[in-house]
Amino acid sequence: MHRSLHNTVVIVILLLNVQSFQTAQSSVNDNAKALLSWTSSINLLIDEIKNITFVASCNLTDDAILLLNVSHVHTSKKNELPANFTHQVNLANNTNSAALPVKGVAVGQIVVKVNTSTDQLSLPSDNKFRIYVVHSHTLVIVNTVIGWLYFVAWSVSFYPQTILNYQRKSVVGLNFDYIVYNITGFLAYGFYNIGLFWIPVVKEEYLKMYPDGVNPVQANDVFFTLHAVVLTAIVIMQCFIYERGGQKVSIIATVLLSLAWTAMFVLLFVAVAGKITWLVYLMVFSYLKLGVTLIKYIPQVYMNFRRKSTEGWSIGNVLLDFTGGSLSILQMFLQSYNNDEWDLVFGDPTKFGLGVFSIFFDIVFMIQHYVLYRPRKNGFEILAPDIVTAEESSGKCFS
Ligand SMILES: *[C@@H]1O[C@H](CO)[C@@H](O)[C@H](O)[C@H]1NC(C)=O
Ligand SMILES: *[C@@H]1O[C@H](CO)[C@@H](O)[C@H](O)[C@H]1NC(C)=O
Ligand SMILES: *[C@@H]1O[C@H](CO)[C@@H](O)[C@H](O)[C@H]1NC(C)=O
Ligand SMILES: *[C@@H]1O[C@H](CO)[C@@H](O)[C@H](O)[C@H]1NC(C)=O
Ligand SMILES: *[C@@H]1O[C@H](CO)[C@@H](O)[C@H](O)[C@H]1NC(C)=O
Ligand SMILES: *[C@@H]1O[C@H](CO)[C@@H](O)[C@H](O)[C@H]1NC(C)=O
Repeated sequence: MHRSLHNTVVIVILLLNVQSFQTAQSSVNDNAKALLSWTSSINLLIDEIKNITFVASCNLTDDAILLLNVSHVHTSKKNELPANFTHQVNLANNTNSAALPVKGVAVGQIVVKVNTSTDQLSLPSDNKFRIYVVHSHTLVIVNTVIGWLYFVAWSVSFYPQTILNYQRKSVVGLNFDYIVYNITGFLAYGFYNIGLFWIPVVKEEYLKMYPDGVNPVQANDVFFTLHAVVLTAIVIMQCFIYERGGQKVSIIATVLLSLAWTAMFVLLFVAVAGKITWLVYLMVFSYLKLGVTLIKYIPQVYMNFRRKSTEGWSIGNVLLDFTGGSLSILQMFLQSYNNDEWDLVFGDPTKFGLGVFSIFFDIVFMIQHYVLYRPRKNGFEILAPDIVTAEESSGKCFS
C-alpha cells in the first residue's frame, strides 16, 4: 500500500551498497545452531554480476547446503527468469560464509526463498532475498533523491501553518474539521506504522499473509507520522490558546469521527478475543487513514469559499504538500519504468489515486489563494460563519 517511502529506503540501501543483512530472528532458540543471514536485496543491470553473501554466526562443523527456491517472479519477458544463478549454495566445513553470484538477464524482480537441509543452521523467519534487475542505476539514484525530497517536503509542510498561527496569535480561517480529521488520520496511520515496524507479532503476521511481500513500513514512515502527530497536536493547542472567532468542529465531523473511533474501540476487543489478527486490526486503521484523507480538505475549501478568503490558511503548507505529492507520483512512474513493473502505478490505485486526489485539492487551494480570493491589503478580518453569511447577503463582501 504505502510503498514509495519504503521503496526509497530499500533503494538507499541498494544504492550505498550497504550489505544489509537481515537480523536472524529464529523461532528456535538453540545455541548449538549457527544463525544464517544474507544480503536482503541487490540491484542489477542486465549482464551485471553481483554476489548475494551468506554468513553464519559461527564456523560450521560440517558441510551445509542451502536450497534456493524462486517464489515470485515479475518480468515483462515471458518464460524467462530475470536473473541467472545456481539454486544451491555450499557452505563448507570450518567456514562461515559463501557467495552466490547472480547475473542480470532481463528487467524484472525475483523473490527467492532460502532453505537448508542441515539442522546445524537456523534461518531467520523472513527467509528470502530479492533480486531487482533494473534499466539504470542512475535512475535508482534519482529515485532515491526524489524520495528524500518528498519526505522532507511533506515533513516541513506542517510548519508554515503552525508559524502562521503563532504570528497572527489567531487560528481564524483554519478549519477545525480539517484539524480533527488530520489528527485522526495521523494517529491511525501511526498505529499502523508502529505496529508493522516495531511489533514482532505483527511483522510475523505480515510475512504469513504476504509471503513474498516487503514490509511496507520503514523508519522514515514511522518518523513522518510521529512528527505529524506532534505538529498537529501543537496546532490543536494553538486552537485553544489563540483567537478562534467562534469557530468549532462541525457536527458532521464530530459524528463521523465518533463513529470511527467507537468502531476501532469495538474492534480492539475483537482483536483481543483473537477473532481477527492484530495485522488486520492495524490494516483497518490504515483504511481509516485513507478515508480521512478523502474528506479532510473539503471543509477547508468550503470555508475559504464562504469567507471569500484564504486568510489564516497557510499557502506554504499547500505548496509543500503539492511539491511532495507531485514528487511521489513522479517517483512512482520512474520506478515503474526502471523495474518494468507498472503495477506500482496502476496496480495500486489507492496510493496513486490518493496522491492525485491530494494534488487536486492543493490546486484548488492555490486557485482560491492566488486567483479567487487574493489577500486584501487592509489587514485580516475576523468573521464568524454567521457574520460571513450576513455580509454576503448584504452584498458587502467586496468592501
Ligand atoms: C563474489 O564472491 C566471490 C567469492 O567470494 C569473489 O571471488 C568475487 O569476486 C565476488 N564477485 C563480486 C562481483 O563481488
Ligand atoms: C569439520 O572439521 C572439523 C575440524 O576441522 C573436523 O573435526 C570434522 O570432522 C569435519 N567434519 C566433516 C564432516 O568433515
Ligand atoms: C520449491 O518449491 C516447490 C513448490 O513451492 C517445491 O515443489 C520444490 O520442492 C521446492 N524446491 C526446493 C529445492 O525446495
Ligand atoms: C546461467 O549460468 C550458468 C552457469 O552459471 C550457465 O551454464 C547457463 O547457461 C546460464 N543460463 C543463462 C540462461 O544464461
Ligand atoms: C573460521 O574459519 C576460518 C577459515 O575459514 C578461520 O580463519 C577462522 O579462524 C575460524 N574461526 C573460528 C572461530 O573458528
Ligand atoms: C526446508 O527443507 C526441509 C528439509 O529439506 C523441509 O522439511 C522443509 O519443508 C523445507 N521448508 C520449506 C519452507 O520449504
